[in-house]
Order: sequence, then C-alpha cells, then structure tokens
Amino acid sequence: MSTVRLDRFVCKSTELTKAEAIEQIHQGAVSVNGEAITSEATQVHENNEIILNGKKLIARRFRYILMHKAAGTICSNKDEVYPSLFNQIAIDRISELHIAGRLDADTTGMVLITDDGRWSFDITTPTKKCEKVYRVGLSRPIADDAAIKFSHGLSLQGEDKLTLPAVLEVISPKEVLLTITEGKFHQVKRMFAAIGNKVVSLHREKIGMVSLDVEAGQWRYLTAEEILSFTNGK
Ligand code: URA
Repeated sequence: MSTVRLDRFVCKSTELTKAEAIEQIHQGAVSVNGEAITSEATQVHENNEIILNGKKLIARRFRYILMHKAAGTICSNKDEVYPSLFNQIAIDRISELHIAGRLDADTTGMVLITDDGRWSFDITTPTKKCEKVYRVGLSRPIADDAAIKFSHGLSLQGEDKLTLPAVLEVISPKEVLLTITEGKFHQVKRMFAAIGNKVVSLHREKIGMVSLDVEAGQWRYLTAEEILSFTNGK
C-alpha cells in the first residue's frame, strides 16, 4: 500500500464515516507510531502503528469485482421491481460495495463493483476518458452518417452540452459497437434516439482494457494488473 490520508485509513479500518473519523482525529483519539496526530490530512502507511482509543487499527483491503449482469437484474443495493445483482455475490459487507457505472435493468454485460470510491471515480468521470464498449442491437438499419454524427457529438434532450466524441463500428445493418467515455442517464439509448433509431438490445462488453469473460450472473475478482490499468489512464 502506498501512503494514504489518516482520515481515509481510519474510515477503511473502522465503521466510522469520514466526518466521524475526522472528529476522532481532531479530538486527539488517534496516534501514529505513538504520537497523537490531530490533522486528518497526515499521510500514513499501513506499516505504521495506528491506534484509535487504545485499539490498533488494521486496514481492510479494498475489493474489485467484475460481474456479468444478467437481464432482469438491477444495479441497486436492494431489490426493487427486479432483484438486485448483489444477490448473486455471496461475500461479506455487501452493503459497502457500489457499482462503477450502472446499467439499466434490461441492459446486460460488464459491471465493475468495488468499495474503493477513488478508484470508481476514475472509471466514471468523463475527464478520465475511460472507454466503455457497448454492443447495440437496433430496430432499424444504421444510417450512413451515424458514425460522423457520433464522432462530432450529439445534442441530447435535456442536456446543455453535446455528448463527447464516440466511436461507432458497424457490425451489420442492425448491430453496432459503440465506444463512449461518459455515462449519462440512458446515454446509449438516447444517442440512438437522437439519430432516429431505437435500441432493442444493449450489452456492455468492455471497460477500459478489461473485457467481459464470465457467464451471465457470474463474477470474479479483478487481477492486480487490471485494477491498476484503470488508474494508469488506460
Ligand atoms: N446506456 C443506456 O442507455 N443504458 C445502459 O444501461 C447503459 C448505457
């Protein structure tokens, strides 16, 4: 582990929220290698002896999961009209996990799941330009000028800004691959609606450098190399 801020370390190794961790630090309840530290921004390392109210803190490891979302499941932490995809992940502390870029109930494919908010930010924030590749089934043959329009950016209803440049690869008249680097609400469906077409099937097959390689409803942990690939600007 590289160094982390003291408040982050305390959150990661206890059930405290960030505000509660900072309060404890300000009150002098936290010591690092025997010295009381009252600044939450202090950088610490997991090898340091960090004690909160007399108890040594042990950093928990973050978790990074790739899952193949099946149709008819939802990217929510609790069941709603459809069951939550988290029902298919039998590990501890499920409620601490979140999805880095949700899919609609009728969309299938790759989701990345973690309890590391800083890592998921790099995947979802458009400025990091993390590419998401969707296989899209269409109700009508794709228009000849669609790729040009997508590369220039589209105006979507209710949005002030154009969509970021997207890459369209035509597989067949009614099947395309679309690569985008942002994730507005129903973005892919709205992009095709904006050019007069309709999405009839939607499947995410790749995020960044990582391709979906497990069956529907299955999941696996990411490798160290895969985890790092999202923070190396790939
Ligand atoms: N775009 C959509 O319209 N739906 C999804 O589930 C993902 C991207």
